[in-house]
Amino acid sequence: MGKSIAYKILEKNLLTGNLKAGNEISIKVNQTLTQDSTGTMVYLQLEAMKIKDIKTDLSVAYIDHNTLQTGFENADDHEFIKSAAAKYGIIYSKPGNGICHQLHLERFSRPGDVLIGSDSHTPTCGGVGMLSIGAGGLDVAIAMAKGYYYLKAPKVLNIELVGKLNPWVSAKDIILYILKTLSVKGGTGYIIEYSGEGLKELSVTDRATMANMGAELGATTSIFPSDEVTMDFLTRQGRKKDFVPLYADNDAVYDKKIKINLGDIKPMTAMPHSPDNVVEVSRLDNIKVDQVAIGSCTNSSYTDLMKVAKILKGRKVHEDVSLIISPGSSSILKMMSKNGALADLIESGARILEAACGPCIGMGQAPKSNGISLRTFNRNFKGRCGTKNAEVYLVSPETAAVSAITGYLTDPSTFGEMPAVEIPERFDVCGNYFIYPKEDRKDLEVVMGPNIKPFPVNRPLNENLKGKVLLKVGDNITTDDIMPSNAKLLPYRSNIPKLSEYCFGTLVDDFHLRAKKNGGGFIIGGENYGQGSSREHAALVPLYLGIKAVIAKSFARIHKANLINSGILPLAFKNKEDYELFDEMDDVEMNGIINALNQGAEIVLINKTKNKAVKLTFEGSKRDIEILKCGGYLNYAKYDRN
Ligand code: F3S
Repeated sequence: MGKSIAYKILEKNLLTGNLKAGNEISIKVNQTLTQDSTGTMVYLQLEAMKIKDIKTDLSVAYIDHNTLQTGFENADDHEFIKSAAAKYGIIYSKPGNGICHQLHLERFSRPGDVLIGSDSHTPTCGGVGMLSIGAGGLDVAIAMAKGYYYLKAPKVLNIELVGKLNPWVSAKDIILYILKTLSVKGGTGYIIEYSGEGLKELSVTDRATMANMGAELGATTSIFPSDEVTMDFLTRQGRKKDFVPLYADNDAVYDKKIKINLGDIKPMTAMPHSPDNVVEVSRLDNIKVDQVAIGSCTNSSYTDLMKVAKILKGRKVHEDVSLIISPGSSSILKMMSKNGALADLIESGARILEAACGPCIGMGQAPKSNGISLRTFNRNFKGRCGTKNAEVYLVSPETAAVSAITGYLTDPSTFGEMPAVEIPERFDVCGNYFIYPKEDRKDLEVVMGPNIKPFPVNRPLNENLKGKVLLKVGDNITTDDIMPSNAKLLPYRSNIPKLSEYCFGTLVDDFHLRAKKNGGGFIIGGENYGQGSSREHAALVPLYLGIKAVIAKSFARIHKANLINSGILPLAFKNKEDYELFDEMDDVEMNGIINALNQGAEIVLINKTKNKAVKLTFEGSKRDIEILKCGGYLNYAKYDRN
């Protein structure tokens, strides 16, 4: 039976498990990446594991998210990550060097290898045929410490591209078209694998744009073949030695197949407030634009920005529009400053930002109240741009540049002839923003400024637990309700004690004081407890506050995994009506927990205050039980000899 590219890489890197969709497997990790926003926690976790060296071939710590330094907190985080990188043998990318995914694609991506990154857009490197997966911070720390990553083997969805692109239509339009077709849930449980003669139309950076937004489809990752286009890209980057050819077998087996004719695609836009709310630009009339933002890990490549510069050359940004450009890497910025394109952009009236995530993560450039912002980014959720009532449209760089000139959301194909962009024979690499680890690292210490606090580590699970119900919540509690994240709290991502003051802050005052006074305790939840993001802090902060178990009607999948990783028991009511038998500050206890988990038996929760007993169940793998018994994934990994 023929194999897909995805399964060829999984098979090459398989460590444990039976490689079949749905089975739990572990794979060898070749590379990792972190960004600063999640990275501080990753390196605190690495510190807590007390390892000497990392096990990956190559790991990189990027600073690209919280680059504004209006107080000491972000600067402290940068210094901490820099010192941890030096100690453990990790490459450090200084602020200003660029956006992690664009930089990783340019400098380190390798066809056929596995990359795990603590950022959801890690799949960008799928553009060169690298199996690149976004994961939780703890998974990335363990990938560095142990060299492995556990996942459920995904299914593979093949998207065959045929035909030729129309003028002014580019990779962003293709992925928006796919989002319109499949929706934001369409990729869940799948690796998306591209094939077909239409691939010849797409450069590696085009492919990376599409792989990047596979995250918006909910896919585990996306992957392209490594072909002559890939070889050309790596050669121009001065990395021909990293090229390996990689194709699916002719008779490769896929779980699902879709065919797309590139010629059917027109310039597209995702309207507010979802990346799959997509229509053709030409169908929207006269939408006046206040801001145009070009950049992000989706569309900040040399080609993207050169296209924009060519469109703007000799023209003027509309007087009502603020045009913002953030390049993907320092090398791109350097090349554009040398070839005059930067001068063309400045001459047109564009504002040039440093090479970083910037407006994408809400670090500056929030639009005005009720403003309309066109962005080449990947997400347009309400409020993400920093202005709650702003409306964000996602577009291609071509549509963005033309609209910045006209002042209206404009179909670029009405704009005359499309300018061509020539890619230089050799990329002019800007290497001085990278700090490579030294050979002799034995006396190096990690620098922890006052904003950096140690990672909370749980203790092994007790056979018997007792305490108070500290909080009872309703259905659909989100990770935002548990641990809010906003611009005010972002600088404290490495300071769990400080963050704990805001735990459940939208629902109840001073939860942290209640938890501390009672020496920790239990939470009672309704349906779908912990829905929303994969934010680890929503489990780590309760761990810090001594939460021993969350007992709910049901759990959101990722949050449940984060609770297990933190050593907090996620237990479900066997009879959902039993939820009604508990109130805040009731005294509860459960006995024989480890024994029950080992036997796959129910656990009895006794409400001492009300003199009632109810049955609870735990659903999880044998490995989950071992992790809980050890008091979390970090402890489990410490004793795991693999
Ligand atoms: Fe940065 Fe936005 Fe991408 S925050 S990593 S540019 S999604």
